Amino acid sequence: MKNKILLLFSLVALISVISCKKEGVEIDYHYYPQEDYALMSQYLDLPEVPMAYENDFPNYYSSTNRQYDRDLATLGRVLFYDKNLSEDKTISCASCHKQEIGFSDDLAFSDGVNQRKTARNSLALGSVFSFNEYYGSSIVGRVPFFWDNRASSVQEQSRATLGNPLEMDMEMHEVKDRVLDLEYYEPLFKAAYGHGLQNEQEILDAIGIFVNTIGSFNSRYDQAVDQYLSSNGNLGGIQNVDLSGFSAIENEGRNLYVANCSSCHGNIEQGVAAPALIEANNGLAMNYEDQGAGNGVFKVPTLRNVEKTGPYMHDGSLATLEDVVNHYSEGVQNHQSLNPELKDGNQPKRLNLTDSQKASLVAFLKTYTDDEFLTDVKYSDPFKQ
Ligand code: HEC
Ligand code: HEC
Repeated sequence: MKNKILLLFSLVALISVISCKKEGVEIDYHYYPQEDYALMSQYLDLPEVPMAYENDFPNYYSSTNRQYDRDLATLGRVLFYDKNLSEDKTISCASCHKQEIGFSDDLAFSDGVNQRKTARNSLALGSVFSFNEYYGSSIVGRVPFFWDNRASSVQEQSRATLGNPLEMDMEMHEVKDRVLDLEYYEPLFKAAYGHGLQNEQEILDAIGIFVNTIGSFNSRYDQAVDQYLSSNGNLGGIQNVDLSGFSAIENEGRNLYVANCSSCHGNIEQGVAAPALIEANNGLAMNYEDQGAGNGVFKVPTLRNVEKTGPYMHDGSLATLEDVVNHYSEGVQNHQSLNPELKDGNQPKRLNLTDSQKASLVAFLKTYTDDEFLTDVKYSDPFKQ
């Protein structure tokens, strides 16, 4: 990882601020005023000095590492996990975006406030940081969010989700009132903005920062690509060799993926985290109840941590990765908008994979699992239960 030196530097800086001596007088340094920290600590399990939020990208990434404002990210994290922001105080962002399963949900349709259900399957959040790179704002003139790509930022998405009667059912002014009533937010807003909460946008911006810090890029797949880079100096020819540390089965699965899936879902060795295509119809059905972006076209979702993010597709209609692979092998429907990549002339393509090929493809998809990300404390629930 690129950031060892920076890390060392911040550690030294940290140690020197925690106890610093001036003219023989011991200065007891506190990041938060002591009474603020004591107050927050009644509710929240936050460190005395906020954690650093940064994306320490693998070496093969073309992007430079990103640093985020740690106070905004910390505030955003608390908001993300706070059930008080929903109408009946039972649902937080994290209710439908659970860290241990890639910030997705294990239900086809998630539980919203007052026993309501969402209209779509929850999307995993491991790659929001790189939407700009891989969906590219140039393609549609903005960075797209949701299954139908209708929102253009986490702020816009969050406003829609908070206000959605099936999800959190709160107007922004109501969210603001709730936040003002909760005493642990005062110090968090002071740290982040230099003053208490003033406007709704400050809430959305903090959530936006936190969600953007959420990045998964330390899977076995990333490690294998990095390994190739360090032994070869560049990524040339990587498509044609077996990846080190991968079993024969995983390598076979990778070849099947490159041949049949990468034209839409992308190759991460190209330097970004995933999709090559912004949206498509993948022939899930002949008729769609939900038309997505129009004509049954939906976002091509990230496959990061896909092992954990089932059930799959916008309607959660495929329960397992085996079901997904069966779909692409012999189940693609001849929908009128079916993407040409999944067609053979006028007919849906039939890959007719053998059972062992299917198992290989599933084994390969599991190499996208990033255990460090799934358990990283800086993304975890800060509330004391
Ligand atoms: C009740 C469940 C639920 C809650 C609560 C919820 N989400 Fe979601 N989230 C979803 C669903 C379902 C989708 C897909 C919706 C769609 O496409 O129309 C989604 C989509 C998203 C996306 C788009 C990801 C992408 O790849 O386009 C982001 C980002 C997101 N949610 C963040 C949040 C944040 C931040 C909060 C809290 C403010 C939140 N969610 C609260 C269920 C939920
Ligand atoms: C034509 C582009 C295209 C190709 C080729 C393609 N996909 Fe997809 N994939 C999509 C789209 C679009 C969706 C979302 C469709 C929906 O929800 O209606 C999707 C969804 C998925 C999902 C569900 C992810 C989630 O979070 O719900 C998985 C898993 C998946 N594809 C794996 C594969 C595999 C494996 C292959 C190769 C065998 C493949 N895809 C080939 C476009 C494609």
